[in-house]
Order: sequence, then structure tokens, then C-alpha cells
Amino acid sequence: MSTRVAVLASGRGSHFQALADAARAGALPIQLIGLFSDRPDAPVVERANALGIPVWAERPDKQAPRVDFDRRLFAALDEIQPSLIVCAGFMRIINGSVLTPWSARMINIHPSLLPRHRGLHTHRRALDSGDREHGASVHFVTAELDGGPVIAQARVPVVSGDDETSLAARVLAREHPLLAQSVLGITQGRLQLHADGVRFDGRTLQSPCQLDAQDRLVCA
Ligand code: GAR
Repeated sequence: MSTRVAVLASGRGSHFQALADAARAGALPIQLIGLFSDRPDAPVVERANALGIPVWAERPDKQAPRVDFDRRLFAALDEIQPSLIVCAGFMRIINGSVLTPWSARMINIHPSLLPRHRGLHTHRRALDSGDREHGASVHFVTAELDGGPVIAQARVPVVSGDDETSLAARVLAREHPLLAQSVLGITQGRLQLHADGVRFDGRTLQSPCQLDAQDRLVCA
């Protein structure tokens, strides 16, 4: 049985494409049942249309209260009842009141080694801080921006001569397997959110799982 997954995304959609490709190849036991976006003209919307995956895309009304959009978005999600919601480059803060019921079933990928560099411009901030190591994190979504329990991380070195573009590309190459492996672990029921934190095979993680060189999660 494949897991019903909805993706929230705002931009290029390389993650969405990678998930769709993995599902089609039989590498991930998921069914993408919808793409949800706050940018109707985003490339990710075109990708979903090309793949025949249903799209819900609305531009938020700047005059209306922010939460109005969030309520419409989650009403649309409620209608299709996903087992898992994946935020993959969704660049909008969602109101906690609509999120809370979904917390254990909603993940986000963020381009930094959380808790370092929450929010925007993470690659620039890693360079400005002189970080020797950078990367990406997958975490369960809570009302706190980029603050939910971290499931897994991928680490890359920062090398001399790096600029934002080179560093972002090195991180993105590891983001795709990181998200795929995290989704796989959740669909298999191996990774779960509990009151005491993230559990892997029933044991509470003392630190996030790490993506190894063979694209496997090492969880302790
Ligand atoms: C990814 O790098 C993802 O980590 C980041 O947006 C990019 C989306 O790429 N997410 C965030 O910054 C969320 N705060 P994509 O559109 O090619 O999938």
C-alpha cells in the first residue's frame, strides 16, 4: 500500500520532481495526491500539471488576514486526507492554529543544520558566520518556524572559494536523498513523532539521524 502524500511548494520544485520520480520508479512507496502552492505561476505548478498531479494554487490576498489563506489551504488538504504532508520549498509561514492537528504528519526540509540558521538566506548566513560545515535538515512541523523536532540531517563541508551558489548546489544534491530517506522512514513507520521526541524503530533519538555516503540514514 502506498502512502498518500501532499506536497506544499512555492518555487522551482526540484524536490517535488525528485519525489515524483522516485514514486514512479518504485523507489518510494508513495502516491503524490496533490501539489499545493501559494504561487500559481511557480515552476513547481507546471511540473505537477505535466505529471498529471492535481494542483491547488492560490495567491494569498495581501489585504486579507494571513490566516485566511492558511484556512483555505488546510480545508483543501482536509478534503483529500493525505497521510503525510511534505513542505518542500514552501516559503510561507503557516499559522499554528491550522498546523497543530497535522504536526505528527507534516514535515519540512530546511537548508541548514538546525537549530543553526532558521529562516531565510541560510547559505549566505553560513558563509558569513565562517561555518566549516553546513547542510540540510528534515523536521516535523510545529508552530515555531523551523523549530520542530529534527528527524534527519545531511552535512556538507564549506570549502574555500565557496559562494552562495556553489554552497547551495552542494547542499541541494544531498537534500534530495535526505528527503527521500526521511519520507521512506516515515512511510515504513520506522520514524515517528511522539511526545518525547522523534523515535526510530521505537527508540527516542538522542540526536538527528545522519545521511551517510551511501544515502542511508544512520539513527542513534
Ligand atoms: C530547498 O533548498 C529547500 O531546502 C528550501 O527551498 C529549496 C526548494 O527547492 N526550503 C526552504 O528554504 C524552506 N525554508 P526546490 O523548489 O527546487 O524543491
